Amino acid sequence: MHILMVTSEAAPFAKAGGLADAVSALSKALRRLGHDVRIIMPRYSFISTEEFALQPFGLFVPMGEATEKALVYKTLLPDSDTTVYLLDHEGFFGRSGIYGSKDEPDYADNAKRFAFLSRAAFRLCDNLRWKPDIIHAHDWPSSLCTVYKRYSEPGYLGSRTILSIHNLGYQGVYSKDFYTYFGLPWELFHGAGLEYYDSINLLKGGITSADSLSTVSPTYAREIQSPELGNSLDGLLRARSASLVGILNGIDTDVWNPKTDSYLPSTYHIDDMSGKAVCKEVLQQEFGLAVEPDTPLIAMVSRLTNQKGVKELFKPGYGTVPDLCKDMDMQMVVLGSGDSWCEKELESLSSALPNFKARLGYSEKLAHLIEAGADFFLMPSQYEPCGLNQMYSLRYGTLPIARRTGGLADTISNFNEKTGAGTGFLFDALTPRAIYDTCGWAIWAYYNRTEQLRAMRRRGMSQDFSWSASALEYDALYRSCLGI
Ligand code: ADP
Ligand code: GLC
Repeated sequence: MHILMVTSEAAPFAKAGGLADAVSALSKALRRLGHDVRIIMPRYSFISTEEFALQPFGLFVPMGEATEKALVYKTLLPDSDTTVYLLDHEGFFGRSGIYGSKDEPDYADNAKRFAFLSRAAFRLCDNLRWKPDIIHAHDWPSSLCTVYKRYSEPGYLGSRTILSIHNLGYQGVYSKDFYTYFGLPWELFHGAGLEYYDSINLLKGGITSADSLSTVSPTYAREIQSPELGNSLDGLLRARSASLVGILNGIDTDVWNPKTDSYLPSTYHIDDMSGKAVCKEVLQQEFGLAVEPDTPLIAMVSRLTNQKGVKELFKPGYGTVPDLCKDMDMQMVVLGSGDSWCEKELESLSSALPNFKARLGYSEKLAHLIEAGADFFLMPSQYEPCGLNQMYSLRYGTLPIARRTGGLADTISNFNEKTGAGTGFLFDALTPRAIYDTCGWAIWAYYNRTEQLRAMRRRGMSQDFSWSASALEYDALYRSCLGI
């Protein structure tokens, strides 16, 4: 099959979260199945094009008000022959942020930027004389592809569209003043499902117009059809239930492999865990914690937003962390960036508590060291469509402590003190108390159930989280869309 991925993020070129990892790893896995997979994404200013080939054509993309011009660079995903086209448009993408900046978290012209990406995908295919069988859009930024394909791209009648929902919490809601720029007739404002309380909702348009919908875990596929986690689109999702599947993300097992991980001071594997102890020591040094091999170390790597439970962890006067760190013989490290109240709080906790240290910012290298060096990985998510870190953790012999939601519920099984079964520690209520108790439970087990924890680590490390199985599910989904 000819498969076009239209995306705002793809690792390693541009990454704000798990979407980037998921798109690249899925593309590589589909390529390994023999498909012709190509990715189109923006060329943001931080992506150096020095080594990329400039395509011999420019793109002219008629939008509602103007014809936009763009250059296209071509490269490959690392360690793969999956083609990536980078759309170079200085006015829209020549910026340092993907969606926004510190001062402007959601760029004022995002509706235009990503409508342009969605339309340019078709003009690129025209230029390449390449007809995708499948156009696969991801989240709100490329949702409009499905609308364009359905209503205004007669040359692509044979193509089918899939929209993957990686996070229903972000829908791309913008003023309807942008609508004319899309170059779509006004009937489609309602007709294509774009209208949302008199504004534009890009994701809603995609959910209405795509041939098929997927999301990134079976549990999340059910949850988003309920009022609690449906983010006001649950009714629409229930109406499209027959076309919605949940396919669990895999992880890139080349990048996330403790046996070969070049970021680690010492690699390790299931039958020789001595390297993990070295990683713990280096991690403690790196964060300025006391080097204590036998003190349990809980870690977190995360975007610092409410989705990830940061309020229940860190909110002054309410969050769990100060009590946890004072009451228990443990250490904690956090790597993240996000909401400024939370960043400030992390800095103040780091100076107040000797056994708590945070690092603000984004670091791939530290993320790897943390996965390897920690004993436990904390994910108290309010909701979690899939979550990648718990799978990295399991593979690195680091036991997850997580809320039973979305993909976390699908990938972690709860510790059973009687039988020793399980791969992590789960809780249901999103309250500081539940987090405190569950961390306490894990720490108790660390000191008192050493053998059971060792067996749990081995169990986690031997699970298969590669993309092979999930890519086959996408393959089947594409085929059923195409009726082949
Ligand atoms: P989400 O996409 O909702 O943020 P995921 O668990 O799917 O959650 O993916 C998050 C990805 O981003 C993981 O690969 C994680 O390691 C990475 N990540 C998040 N914050 C940071 C950070 N500050 N430094 C390095 N990696 C980070
Ligand atoms: C989103 C979700 C996360 C998921 C990722 C990749 O960012 O928040 O749970 O793992 O997309 O699909």
